[in-house]
This record gives sequence, C-alpha cells and structure tokens, in this order.
Amino acid sequence: MLDKCMIILGIETSCDDTAAAVVTSDRVIKSNIVRTQSTEHLPFGGVVPEIAARAHIEVLDQLIKNALDQANVTFKELDGIAVTGGPGLIGGVIVGVMMAKAIAAVHNLPFLAVNHLAGHALTARLTNDLEFPYLLLLVSGGHCQILIVHGANHFQLLGTTIDDAVGEAFDKIGKLLGFSYPAGPQIESLAKNGNPKRFPFPRPLVGGVKQTSPYAFSFSGLKTAVRTCIQKHLSLTCKDKADICASFQAAVGDVLSDRCHNALKWCEDKKLPLQSLVVAGGVAANEYLRKRLTLIANEHNVNFVAPPVALCTDNAAMIAWAGIERLNLGLSDGLDFAPRPRWSLEEI
Ligand code: KG4
Ligand code: ZN
Repeated sequence: MLDKCMIILGIETSCDDTAAAVVTSDRVIKSNIVRTQSTEHLPFGGVVPEIAARAHIEVLDQLIKNALDQANVTFKELDGIAVTGGPGLIGGVIVGVMMAKAIAAVHNLPFLAVNHLAGHALTARLTNDLEFPYLLLLVSGGHCQILIVHGANHFQLLGTTIDDAVGEAFDKIGKLLGFSYPAGPQIESLAKNGNPKRFPFPRPLVGGVKQTSPYAFSFSGLKTAVRTCIQKHLSLTCKDKADICASFQAAVGDVLSDRCHNALKWCEDKKLPLQSLVVAGGVAANEYLRKRLTLIANEHNVNFVAPPVALCTDNAAMIAWAGIERLNLGLSDGLDFAPRPRWSLEEI
C-alpha cells in the first residue's frame, strides 16, 4: 500500500452510461457523475452501439470537467487516470480510452486500463473495506458469473452463463411486457404487488452440487417460458403483468440462491477462509434478490455485502477505485494499450 493519499480520475464508457468520477485512496468518492443515454436508445428498445459511441463523444469532456469541479480538484492534483479498457461495446470503450490516454500524456500521469468487471468486483472494497478472499456474484446486463476474488489482480471463475445474462433476461421480458429499457427496475416494482406463485416458471439448472454444472447459469428456458405465458394471454391486465413479474423474479431468486449455495459449499469444502458473499452489477440493485441472497449468506455463516445501488449499476467511481488498487500493486499500463471488446477476469 502506498503511503500518500492518491487522487484518481475514473472514466467509464463501455455501454450506455457516460461516467466520470474522482476517488481517493482513503475511500472518499469526491464526485461521481453518470449520464445515462436512455433517450438516445429509447426508440430502438435496446442499446445501439454506434449511437452509444457518438453520445459518449458529445458529453465526455464536459462530464470530466464537471467531475473535477465537483471534487474541487485540478488535473495537476491527480495521481492517475483510470478508464474502462474493456470488455464492452468497442466504439464506446475506444472513446473513453483515447480521452484517458490524451489526459495522461498531456499531464504526464499514470494511465490505468481497468477491466470493467474488476471495477464491479472491487466496489465492495471501496464501500466496505473488505478483505480478500470473497465470493462474488456478478449480475449485470452483460454478465452473470460466480467468482472467488483472491486479490485485486487475481480472480477465479467458478461458473458463468451458458446463454443470457440475468439482466438481459430482465430486459427481454420487460420488452415483451411493453416496458422501456432497462426493464429491471420496472419488473421489480411491479413484482411487489404480484403473486410469485401464480406461474410455475422453470428454474434452469437448479439441482444441487451433484449435477454437471453446479455453478453455471442459464436463462433462455426461463425467458421462453415467460414469453409463451405472455403470448397465451390475449390481453394482459395489470394484475397479470404483476403476477408474471413476481413469478419470474421468484424463479431468478431461486436460481441465484441455488448457485450461490453450491459455490459457498465448494469454498467450505476447500477450506477457503471466506468471510463474505458480495453481489455486484446492475441486477444487484434488486432488493428482493438482495434479501434472497442474504438468507443464503446467513445459512453459510458469511456476511452479505451489497454496495449502494448507485455503485452497483455502471459508474466511474468503481473504475477509479480499481485503478487505485492497480496503483497499490505497483501496476500501470502503457499508452499502447489496445481497447478490448472481450476481456475475461481470469485473464487478468
Ligand atoms: O451493471 P449495469 O449497469 O450495466 C451492465 O450491464 O454492465 O447493469 C444493467 C442491468 C440491466 O439489465 C438492468 O435491467 C439491470 O441491470 N437492473 C436490474 C435492476 N436495476 C437494474 N435488474 C433487476 N432489478 C433491478 N432493480
Ligand atoms: Zn457493468
């Protein structure tokens, strides 16, 4: 750990949020600005990569200026620039990386290319000062994985999805129900007034540690079952929609709980000194799912840690923090770093 308190500017442009933040190594988020592109993508019902990249270009420089102003920090006071180097929509990643390289070159600062998933994975250390190792359930629009985080630069993948990511399933089902993107928050809100037992949707791959993929996820069968159910009803009442949302969310809760139970059991068998189950990514904003995961953590005698909602969805504070973790390990990146559309955490 470096003695001096470091101040890092973080930049995130890997999907449909343009974000800039200033974070210090003593865990203070001095500013954290996110501009969501929802209006740009609304007519298309999903994120259009070309439109996303152009929208990042239009606002990124002003957003960085605002983040520095809010933090009351100048470029000269920074100790490094951290940016999402991938994985993500490559046009957007290039916009952020080029901007960060330019700032690093002009102000002679360390350039830190951060894996977006590492940003999500390490957020709990920014908010809760967690010790390694911990078990991480990463659930977002693009990813659904269970990992053991052994260190800021050492991730062990236990399982991932064989088809859709869980956030993607929320968004696709929301689209069928006529909700706008991203549909997760609206499904959660409707589910509060719905009957979770009305529709017995499948729980893909659930079945204990003895089955072939105890840590893998699959959501396409569940998605198809919900689609078939929606198509069967000629017109859906508000009550029908609420019941579908609640039944779908309950199925997702069962799947995530089962996978986490299996992974925690694996860690117990391996005698890993694990103290926490951490949830990260946009879907971790869901309060119902948080409650379900708290129960599993309690069953296995580990703490359940979920960062505040604003730090679960995409943001640049998590990227700045992951940059600080890199600097603490004595790592930084060259200005020849090539933006990466795909970048698994295990490659780190
Ligand atoms: O991490 P994130 O902001 O972006 C990436 O995908 O990297 O996650 C966005 C995803 C979307 O699929 C969105 O529908 C989902 O997170 N999401 C939720 C909730 N809030 C956001 N899913 C379920 N319940 C929520 N409350
Ligand atoms: Zn994300």
